[in-house]
Amino acid sequence: MSADMDAHADVSPVAAQVAVIIVAAGNGTRLGAPEPKAFVQLHGVTLLERSLQSVLALAEPTQVVVVAPESHVGAAELMVAQLATPHSHLSSHPAVTVIPGGVTRSDSVAAGLAFLAPSVEVVLVHDAARALTPTTLFGSVIDTVRFTGSGVVPALPVVDSLKLVDTHGTVAGIADRSQLAAAQTPQGFPAEALAQAYALQSTTEAEATDDAATFSAAGGEVITIPGDHDAFKITTPWDLTRAELLVAAGTSAASDSSGSAGEYADAMVQPAGAQDRVGLGTDTHAFGEAENLWLAGLHWPGEKELSGHSDGDAVAHAITDALLSAAGLGDIGSRFGTDDPAFANARGEVFVRGAIRLLDEAGFDVLNVAVQIVGNRPRFGPRRDEAQAVLTEWVGAPVTVTATTTDGLGFTGRGEGIAALATALVRARR
Ligand code: CTP
Ligand code: MG
Repeated sequence: MSADMDAHADVSPVAAQVAVIIVAAGNGTRLGAPEPKAFVQLHGVTLLERSLQSVLALAEPTQVVVVAPESHVGAAELMVAQLATPHSHLSSHPAVTVIPGGVTRSDSVAAGLAFLAPSVEVVLVHDAARALTPTTLFGSVIDTVRFTGSGVVPALPVVDSLKLVDTHGTVAGIADRSQLAAAQTPQGFPAEALAQAYALQSTTEAEATDDAATFSAAGGEVITIPGDHDAFKITTPWDLTRAELLVAAGTSAASDSSGSAGEYADAMVQPAGAQDRVGLGTDTHAFGEAENLWLAGLHWPGEKELSGHSDGDAVAHAITDALLSAAGLGDIGSRFGTDDPAFANARGEVFVRGAIRLLDEAGFDVLNVAVQIVGNRPRFGPRRDEAQAVLTEWVGAPVTVTATTTDGLGFTGRGEGIAALATALVRARR
């Protein structure tokens, strides 16, 4: 059986449940560049392109609406078209639309909301000016909106002492910084509720400064999650210089715009960071009759086979689920259709390599995988090194395998079958 498979074969286009509105229609008065701020280059790549790259690296199919200045709609469309070519995972993003914005930020967001697909349940609004925002922050906001049903704002603690000052600059009082947080974007909301909040807002006088304010004014609950220092807004020339330095030093998660992920070449020596994710997978199979066992990528002549639709290699299947789970890419059943005749008797290698390919396309590197086999047979110890070598080759990162029994308890103790548990640690390339 060929180890190579078309990982996209059963990944049909899905109607997006998530949308990101990137607001890029401002002038950038405070930056003072000749062109609108989103079209200013940061280390050779415009702020808008950098924001788009972070959004397009999301694993989940996502509708993207770019709100550009009327004069720059064509330029933005060109950027979208150019990003579509080398980034194959753009194919999982059903639509990137560019529309003209309004006079205020709030007008621009409202224009974007009018373009949401009916399937969209969660909408994020993001400032193009926060060009170094890592993809992981988008993922966290989406997950938290889904989990809580509230509006979600990434926020950082305020570090400076805060003063209330009058128009002459005289200190008129203090603000308690422990009660304050600095709000960033992307801000996420249940889509319908945000659209309603904006519809209400247009009938009132007050102009909200961000989407959370509009949402709160309409009675919606807003919660905060930890923000990210890289998600700072480029407002002044000083901010742009700071961003240039961060990209040049390669210290921001989104700094490598080429996608070559140079700074992650030796991922094992990097400390764990916000872009690291852990995944879990388990699999269980009963012993069959034939003495034709495949386990942990090895053939075990004379040992009872594990019954299953495929070769029953519980270790390979648990690894596959752990990898997909770490990257938020579903599971073995939803990705490789275990009922699909194409995978009947498929070797474990097909699923593991297929998962690795999906992770690579979604922008994840694997740091390591750990698996434990639970069962009485086969005696695993003597072939541990052999199994680890095979699995490490499939995964392209260290795979370690341990084995244990259950002291005669349960189905594994009675020798009825084998269970395997796997964890995987993966790192988003940006
Ligand atoms: N924005 C927008 N439409 C507007 C005003 C702002 O889409 N009418 C967007 C900006 O492009 C930016 C984000 O909202 O990505 C945050 O706004 P801000 O940082 O204030 O950008 P500008 O308004 O462009 O800058 P300035 O206020 O200095 O003119
Ligand atoms: Mg502004």
